[in-house]
Amino acid sequence: MTHVAVVTGGASGVGLAVCQHLARAGLAVAVFDLDGAAAKDAVEKLRAAGATAFAAEVDVADRASVDAAFERVRAELGPIRILVTSAAVSGFAPFEEISLELWDRFVAVNLTGTFHCIQSAVPDMVAASWGRIVTISSAAGQTGTARQGHYSATKGGVIALTKAVALEYAARGVTANTIPPFAVDTPLMRGQQGAQNLPKTEVIARMIPARRVGTPDDIGATCAFLCSDAAGYITGQVIAANGGAVL
Ligand SMILES: NC(=O)c1ccc[n+]([C@@H]2O[C@H](COP(=O)([O-])OP(=O)(O)OC[C@H]3O[C@@H](n4cnc5c(N)ncnc54)[C@H](O)[C@@H]3O)[C@@H](O)[C@H]2O)c1
Repeated sequence: MTHVAVVTGGASGVGLAVCQHLARAGLAVAVFDLDGAAAKDAVEKLRAAGATAFAAEVDVADRASVDAAFERVRAELGPIRILVTSAAVSGFAPFEEISLELWDRFVAVNLTGTFHCIQSAVPDMVAASWGRIVTISSAAGQTGTARQGHYSATKGGVIALTKAVALEYAARGVTANTIPPFAVDTPLMRGQQGAQNLPKTEVIARMIPARRVGTPDDIGATCAFLCSDAAGYITGQVIAANGGAVL
């Protein structure tokens, strides 16, 4: 039986690379994204490469939207064995200028969205006594980043949530790990560079021991390994594919 993976934020950047790596590993992939058209594009490309894939327009902050999408995946592809949560909002603002509205949206998408998706998916994994959860957090959640109080707090929360879930499900065959990227060349990073919130790529590269920014494939390959049978004894870990930027 083909195993089913759900990837949130799967239409772009890191999430898209995760979809491609999981599809190459033989999984059926459901792409959940707020941008429904981009999710459909991603699915067309995955299918053209021979994969079984399914697109759903989902706002991970909206529990009804999340639960409905998981039900459609179960009906179309089967029970969920793998969940990767890459959907997030990011941005920079001086601490005193973070409005309550902005704070609430970051918490709703990045942290509560991760909670919704794990809670909706995990019963299938428990039923199968096998599951893989990988959250995409951030170096900002490990160290904090100036002018990212809202983003850093949500990503620190994702790291702690992942560890708690790992402990709770470890004896039931379900692993949960988090990958906290530092700088990965995606539309998100380029958008922040365009808004002058991040320096040019060459400048960021000099801050990283490996002397380059990450590629979506760097994260996709790490994630595919964490989702494999071979990674069954790794749980509750922060696996930083970051060129040595944060140790
Ligand atoms: N790119 C980096 O340098 C970097 C660094 C640290 C952490 N990260 C994390 O990696 C993950 C992926 O980032 P990326 O760089 O690929 O970004 P991206 O903007 O390229 O992709 C994010 C995707 O999430 C989707 N999305 C946003 N809000 C959503 C919602 N409410 N519901 C469903 N989908 C939603 C977007 O439509 C988009 O397709 C994020 O969790 C981000 O915080 C990225």
